[in-house]
Amino acid sequence: MRVLVVGKGGREHAIAQKISESKMLETLWVAPGNPGMSKVGLQCVNVEKTPDVLAFCKTNRVDLVVFGPEAAILSDLKEVLEANGVACLAPSREAAHLEASKYFCKEILEDAGLLTAAYQKANTVAEAISFLEKHDFKTPIVVKADGLAAGKGVAVCETLETAKAAVHDLTTAYGFPLLVEECLIGRELSAFALCDGEDFVILGTACDYKRITPDPFSANTGGMGAFSPCDFISTDDEAAIDDIFRKSLKSLKRKGKPYVGFLFAGLMKTDKGLYVLEFNVRLGDPETQALLPRIKSDLLDLSVKAVQGRLEKQKTEFHDYRSVHVVAVSKGYPGNTMDLGHAIQIPTASTEGTNIYFAGVSTKNENLVNTGGRVLGVTALAKTRDEARMKAYQEIRKVQFQGLYFREDIAQ
Ligand code: AMP
Ligand code: GLY
Repeated sequence: MRVLVVGKGGREHAIAQKISESKMLETLWVAPGNPGMSKVGLQCVNVEKTPDVLAFCKTNRVDLVVFGPEAAILSDLKEVLEANGVACLAPSREAAHLEASKYFCKEILEDAGLLTAAYQKANTVAEAISFLEKHDFKTPIVVKADGLAAGKGVAVCETLETAKAAVHDLTTAYGFPLLVEECLIGRELSAFALCDGEDFVILGTACDYKRITPDPFSANTGGMGAFSPCDFISTDDEAAIDDIFRKSLKSLKRKGKPYVGFLFAGLMKTDKGLYVLEFNVRLGDPETQALLPRIKSDLLDLSVKAVQGRLEKQKTEFHDYRSVHVVAVSKGYPGNTMDLGHAIQIPTASTEGTNIYFAGVSTKNENLVNTGGRVLGVTALAKTRDEARMKAYQEIRKVQFQGLYFREDIAQ
């Protein structure tokens, strides 16, 4: 098969790497990819706009396009490619509403009868404030923008004053409606599935580290590291995860929005069970870099079956390994001013059981240089999480560029 992966980050590097292992593969491209991926042997093609991707697919007789980032999923790319006979692994824009509207997501969860935080929908500031004033603040309250907000649309508020300020800030930035939500207390985890509109296969669970330092009040990032699987979940929790995907897919189908593609459930393990915080209509970054190396099954085969609606009775096989992924970022990340453009040294011979995934890199005078916040990440696989963590840190310490920073406590 001739396959194109769309995207340019560490997540897409991991997707392309896993697809490259498939026996079904004839040729693989990443669009646009990045020079780090090229350096490790992936073919990157410099196309990003819909007409250019379409022209590339036609000229090169691409059989399947696998979508990475939500920007591509929410664009017209899938519609245009499919109208021209190119198969796509991505949800429709209607189904992708699951991420683009938190209210729609709540409707699906309620229809599916799944556990999620109790909420109220406010269409005006007065309405939001009346909800807040009824809360006793013995526990915090969560104020959420409905639409996409690049991780900045949620405020967990401990006092009425901060909640009122959040209402002001979120509606100024993102408008209405707002969701005012019960605050769930527990441990967060993410679960991933590949879906064919009705059936699905589980791709695993992962925990990511969102803050720039171990301080829970430090700046939020795209993700500083992850481990997989989440070893604090029980077999009952695993059954609950199956239920979450099965019932949500059923509800989406009933509503005429069957979901095909990767699906990411943000969950909270509470003492009353597993609650769904949100869905994302893509894989996580950097969770994917921890998740996919553990998968033994042929991801391309599963992807084709997902697109063709043939996942019923399929099951993912996993290697008997735990994984840990650590991200190296540029100095200044996640702020607006970063120290960029420095040559990157990577280990010449990588340790067995480790993988390096590239993200914010370019080339200057034939050297790789850092040009983004999250520059690259290292995944290590081992029989235990401790061993995987040690290996990942051993490997990332061999990477050098001026201003390099990583968290020291991933997977501890
Ligand atoms: P979301 O975009 O809905 O996943 O929210 C982003 C983050 O806010 C989550 O990863 C949680 O850490 C936190 N969060 C969202 N909703 C809740 C909730 N109801 N209770 C506690 N924390 C929440
Ligand atoms: N690491 C979180 C995300 O991809 O949304």
